[in-house]
Amino acid sequence: MDKIIKEYSNGEVVIIWKPDLCIHAAFCWKELPEVFDPKKRPWVNPKGATTERIIEQIKRCPSGALSYRMENEKQPEKKQENITEVEVIKGGPLMIRGQLKITDTNEKIITKNGLTAFCRCGASKNKPFCDGSHQTVDFDE
Ligand code: FES
Repeated sequence: MDKIIKEYSNGEVVIIWKPDLCIHAAFCWKELPEVFDPKKRPWVNPKGATTERIIEQIKRCPSGALSYRMENEKQPEKKQENITEVEVIKGGPLMIRGQLKITDTNEKIITKNGLTAFCRCGASKNKPFCDGSHQTVDFDE
């Protein structure tokens, strides 16, 4: 079965929403409610903020459920193929963007492509991945 992918455009940027990837970290609607409001339908208002602000917020999505492409591009934004980007989110996960092959504690191999959030706080119920639980514990490192 095909995964759901929704797109919302403001004429400049296309917000791409993949609900299957969402870990409900809630950065989007807590930090930019003018655009992301889960109480509204549709829940994404691409005209609620500037294109620059929307892109900045999408880059903070820890799961990769939100991504974007510019309206004049045919494919989603591509990063340089050989660079793996790592960002430590204060009080949150370790974000790694790139192609990953992960071996978990049960020797299970998981492949990821795009943005992956790894738990740093120890509270995730889906380790090694972040599930948003850092918001429920005292973790601000
Ligand atoms: S860092 Fe997000 S659940 Fe631990």
